[in-house]
Amino acid sequence: MQDYRELHRSSIADPEAFWLNEAGRIDWGRPPTIALDHSRPPFARWFPDGTTNLCANAVDRWAASRPYEPALICVSTETDTEKTYSFAELLDQVTAWAAAFQSLGVGRGDRVLIYMPMIAEAVFAMLACARIGAVHTVVFGGFASGALAARIDDATPTLIVAADAGSRMGRVIPYKPLLDEALGMADHRPSKVMIVDRGLAPVHWAHHDVEANALVDACRHVEVAPADLPSDHPSYILYTSGTTGKPKGVQRDTGGHAVALAASMKHIFFGEPGGVFFATSDIGWVVGHSYIVYGPLIAGMATIVYEGAPIRPDPGIFWKLVERHRVSTMFTAPTALRLLKKEDPAHLARYDCSSLKALFVAGEPLDESTSSWIADSLGVPILDNYWQTETGWPILTVCRGLTDVEPRLGSPGLPAYGFDVRLVDEVTGEPVPVGEKGVIAIATPLPPGCLSTIWNDDARFVKTYFQSIPGKMLYSTFDWGVQDTDGYTFILGRTDDVINVAGHRLGTREIEEAISTHPAVADVAVVGAHDDIKGQTPVAFVVLRGALAAGDELAQAIIQAVAREIGALAKPTSVNFVDSLPKTRSGKVLRRALQAVWEGRDPGDLTTIDDASALTAIYALRDARTMATKA
Ligand code: PRX
Repeated sequence: MQDYRELHRSSIADPEAFWLNEAGRIDWGRPPTIALDHSRPPFARWFPDGTTNLCANAVDRWAASRPYEPALICVSTETDTEKTYSFAELLDQVTAWAAAFQSLGVGRGDRVLIYMPMIAEAVFAMLACARIGAVHTVVFGGFASGALAARIDDATPTLIVAADAGSRMGRVIPYKPLLDEALGMADHRPSKVMIVDRGLAPVHWAHHDVEANALVDACRHVEVAPADLPSDHPSYILYTSGTTGKPKGVQRDTGGHAVALAASMKHIFFGEPGGVFFATSDIGWVVGHSYIVYGPLIAGMATIVYEGAPIRPDPGIFWKLVERHRVSTMFTAPTALRLLKKEDPAHLARYDCSSLKALFVAGEPLDESTSSWIADSLGVPILDNYWQTETGWPILTVCRGLTDVEPRLGSPGLPAYGFDVRLVDEVTGEPVPVGEKGVIAIATPLPPGCLSTIWNDDARFVKTYFQSIPGKMLYSTFDWGVQDTDGYTFILGRTDDVINVAGHRLGTREIEEAISTHPAVADVAVVGAHDDIKGQTPVAFVVLRGALAAGDELAQAIIQAVAREIGALAKPTSVNFVDSLPKTRSGKVLRRALQAVWEGRDPGDLTTIDDASALTAIYALRDARTMATKA
């Protein structure tokens, strides 16, 4: 075990030595001789003279050394199916998929948009892209046509890969009609669309549609060697929400990404070849990219790809999978644990979870009662970790593979090696004293594995992340935090208009724009309101045009507009009709004041408010709601 402080200090003081050493964890075509090119800050090019391939590291190297060991364990409680692929079988599948992509004209650097449920083919498609140097962009299956169309136009994919349908809580959700609708809305046209027909929903075949299984079968036994790619070759784009309505395409490289994940598996996630990793996220989110697909496979572990809910067929399903597959590391979100605790905590006791070394949780704050419950029930360390789509791996955690730092309840931990974390004043950019609230910032260079830029928009990358803290070249996480005297950081919520619904990151601006598509809406503000299970849920305040009558029917139509534009996950739980919104004199909606009043907190300084009556109306709404709840 190493001394945490010394380890962290050396990773920051001499990143070159630290990361060249870590680079030895992966296979290279041409091994790098230098770790970092930081000649154009804030852009950081990691391992600039190295060449490698993510798929070769995730699949080929293990297919050679442990071919018959499990690689993908695909379980669906929606279709009652289970299938395990060994590393050798995974290699066969991925190679055939790569050949199929090439036969459709997909080449190096081309984008492939993947709109799929949690099935093996989604992982084959991702790894096939990595194999040939195509850039995948996975769109979460819960997103609807509006969100999908925006991503199609931004990423301009050559190929789209989709399935006929997904399934949630036993209900089939057809994907193909949503995709067709999105293609109708988008300006960009992909050359081809590959459809995995699971036989769940009828498919209307269009001229550009290709049936995936037949094509892949025809491509079996075609040799496709992994492309030896420059380290900074883009491996993927993953869209995430921010302050504006337009999602940002977080772009990641190849070599830095592989090294960062290999290192995190070793130092943070107890990842050893032969182990079994179970992350309950979805491939549509960053946890799915890093810790369902790439991280575990790069570490030579089997990974569970689970299509299903945490509570179906019963709230014991996670633990049943842990027992059956001897899971060594599990990763979930606090929301899922809160749900299991509420449903029936006794389910856990029915299963033998002794294979587990630790349970990792991330994505949203872990409350103490959930943390204590799950720690007592499982008898293993519960290790919180704080990070973002942008960073790709934990910023704050306890690195149990390297040091004996103890976790502290309520805090995700200390800065991981490579992250020079500073808590700063939002106005001056100066460090805040211990115990005071500040913006969580990271000094440049960001370590390997973090975003290299925003797809197609270097200027937005620099402006959004590195110019929001005045006068300093610091990366802003857009999260508030506070540090204790030992350096443990506690997360206090976002500084921007992003909300966190059941661990899903959503932009309130995007939801507002979706609501504004309804012709009756003149003005709207959306805020995240506290929810005991989901952490937050969207609540909308709507001003109607002219003398339109507010009512349940209109509220439902507005909710449906959100479901249609973004997806069911963003639906407001409450739509409130108001005469006006509390705004500053310059017309900016005081969302934080709205949220505070709605949650029964003090709205703080209101001297900038233009029309105080707007807030009075919100107080009245809140009081009416409180009375209704009491009744
Ligand atoms: O606000 C923080 C919250 O989730 C945001 C990032 O969400 P996303 O890009 O979806 O990446 C999730 C990766 C796990 C952060 O800006 N967040 C993430 N982890 C934690 C957290 N809040 C509190 N505690 C955490 N452990």
